[in-house]
Amino acid sequence: MRQIAFVILIAIHFSAQCIVTKFEDVEEALKCPQIILDNLHVPAGLTLKLNLTDKAEVVFRGNISFGFKHWDGPLVTINGTGIIVRGESNSVLDGLGQSYWDGQGGWSNSKPQFFTIQAFGGSIFRDIRIINTPKDVVQITNSDRVEFANWFIDDSLGDPGIAPKGQEGHNTDAFDVWNSTNVVIRDSVVYNQDDCVALRCGSNISVSNLYCHGSHGLSISVGFSNDSVALNTIRNVSFSNSILDGGRNGIHIKTHIDGGFGNITGVIYSNITIKDIQYNGILIEQNYKNSPPKNATFEAQEPRNNVPIRDLILVDVTGSVTKNAIPIEIVCADEGCFGWRWFGVKVEGGKNNNCNFEPHGFIC
Ligand SMILES: *[C@@H]1O[C@H](CO)[C@@H](O)[C@H](O)[C@H]1NC(C)=O
Ligand SMILES: *[C@@H]1O[C@H](CO)[C@@H](O)[C@H](O)[C@H]1NC(C)=O
Ligand SMILES: *[C@@H]1O[C@H](CO)[C@@H](O)[C@H](O)[C@H]1NC(C)=O
Ligand SMILES: *[C@@H]1O[C@H](CO)[C@@H](O)[C@H](O)[C@H]1NC(C)=O
Ligand SMILES: *[C@@H]1O[C@H](CO)[C@@H](O)[C@H](O)[C@H]1NC(C)=O
Ligand SMILES: *[C@@H]1O[C@H](CO)[C@@H](O)[C@H](O)[C@H]1NC(C)=O
Ligand SMILES: *[C@@H]1O[C@H](CO)[C@@H](O)[C@H](O)[C@H]1NC(C)=O
Ligand SMILES: *[C@@H]1O[C@H](CO)[C@@H](O)[C@H](O)[C@H]1NC(C)=O
Ligand SMILES: *[C@@H]1O[C@H](CO)[C@@H](O)[C@H](O)[C@H]1NC(C)=O
Ligand SMILES: *[C@@H]1O[C@H](CO)[C@@H](O)[C@H](O)[C@H]1NC(C)=O
Repeated sequence: MRQIAFVILIAIHFSAQCIVTKFEDVEEALKCPQIILDNLHVPAGLTLKLNLTDKAEVVFRGNISFGFKHWDGPLVTINGTGIIVRGESNSVLDGLGQSYWDGQGGWSNSKPQFFTIQAFGGSIFRDIRIINTPKDVVQITNSDRVEFANWFIDDSLGDPGIAPKGQEGHNTDAFDVWNSTNVVIRDSVVYNQDDCVALRCGSNISVSNLYCHGSHGLSISVGFSNDSVALNTIRNVSFSNSILDGGRNGIHIKTHIDGGFGNITGVIYSNITIKDIQYNGILIEQNYKNSPPKNATFEAQEPRNNVPIRDLILVDVTGSVTKNAIPIEIVCADEGCFGWRWFGVKVEGGKNNNCNFEPHGFIC
C-alpha cells in the first residue's frame, strides 16, 4: 500500500504540474522532464523563455498564440542539451502576422522575431506547425548537434496577390543559422517571403527535402561581422533533394561587400528543382549590400573578395525561371572564386545567363 502511494506521489511530482495553460505557470514547470504547453497564450511584449533541463521534452498542444505588439522579440527562446521540442498533430503556433505585415519587414518598424534557439547534444525540434510569423521564424545560434525535422511554416497569407496591397509579409526568413555546427534541417515545407534557409556561419550543415514556396531561396549569406573571421566563415554544407517553387531566387550565395574577411568553403547543392523563379534561378554574388525593399533597383556594387568562395559544387540543378528573370548569374571578384565544379546544371527561360566566372563543367 505504502509503496503504491509512493509511486503515485512520484508520478504526480513528475507529471501533474507539467501541463501548462497559463503563461505565469511556465517558469515553475521548467523543472519537469516533460512540459506540455496547452493552448498557451503568451502576453504581448513578453518572451516565452524555455531554458530547459537536460533531455527535457516540450510539447506544443492546441493553439499557442502571442499578443500583438511592435517590439523586437523574440517570442520564444529555447535552450537545452539533448532536448526534444515537438508539436502534437493539429497544434499550431500562431504569430498573428497579418496584424504586423506592411510589406517592409524590419525596415519600417519593430516586428518580433519568433524563435531564438541555442541547443546542443542531439537536440531535436520536430513536427512543428507555425503560421503567420510577424518577421523571421527560427534563429539557430551558437548551437551544436541539433536537428529540425518536419516543420510546416506557413506565411502564405502574406504573399503578394493574397495579402492586401501594402500588407505583404517581408523578411520572413524561415531558418537562419548563425555560428552553429552539425545542424540538420530536413523534411519541411515553407511558404514565406524571404530566405527559405539562410546560413551565415558554421560548419557541417545539412539541408534536405525542403519544399520552399515564394522564398528568396536556399541561401548562404556571409559577411555580417566586420572583424571576426570565425563569424564570417562557413564550411562543409550540403543542400539536397529540394524544390524551390516561385519567389525571387532558387540558389543564392551572397558575400557582403561591407563586411569583414572570411571564407565559404565546401558547399554542395544536389538534386535541386526550381520552378517559376522571378529574379535569378541561381545567383552567386560577391557584391551584396543589404538594402530596404523599396531599393530593389539600387546600383550594382563592385564585387570584393573579402569572402572567397571555394569548392562550390552543383549537381543536378534543373528547372525554369519566369520571362524577365536571369536563369544563372555569377558575379565573382578578382581572386574571389576557386575550384567550382558544376554538373547537370540546366535552368531554362527568361533572359540570358550572365557570368563573369565559369565553373568547371559548366558553360554559361
Ligand atoms: C538555464 O538552465 C541552466 C541549466 O539547467 C542553468 O544552469 C541556468 O542557470 C539557467 N539560466 C537561466 C537564465 O535561468
Ligand atoms: C489562435 O489563438 C489566437 C488568440 O485567441 C487567435 O487570434 C487565432 O486566430 C488562433 N489561431 C488559430 C489558427 O486558431
Ligand atoms: C539561451 O538562448 C538565448 C538565445 O539563443 C541566449 O541569448 C542565452 O544566452 C541562452 N541562455 C542560456 C542560459 O544558455
Ligand atoms: C560560437 O558558438 C560556440 C558554441 O556555443 C561558442 O562557444 C562560441 O563562443 C561562439 N562564437 C562566437 C564568436 O560567438
Ligand atoms: C564535422 O564532421 C566531421 C565528421 O563527422 C567531424 O570530424 C568534425 O569534427 C565536425 N566538425 C565540427 C566543427 O563539429
Ligand atoms: C560534413 O558534414 C557532414 C554532416 O553534415 C558530415 O557527415 C561530414 O563528415 C562532414 N565532412 C567533413 C569533411 O567534415
Ligand atoms: C560594419 O562597418 C560598417 C561601416 O564600416 C558599419 O556601417 C556597420 O554598422 C558595421 N557592422 C557591424 C556589424 O558592426
Ligand atoms: C530528388 O529530390 C526529389 C525531391 O525534391 C526526390 O523526390 C527525389 O527522390 C530525389 N532524387 C534522388 C535521385 O535522390
Ligand atoms: C580562407 O581560407 C584560405 C584557405 O584555407 C586561407 O588561406 C585564408 O587565410 C582564409 N581566410 C581567412 C580570412 O581566414
Ligand atoms: C536607396 O538607393 C538610393 C540610390 O542608390 C540611395 O541614394 C539611398 O540612400 C538608398 N536608401 C537607403 C535607405 O539605403
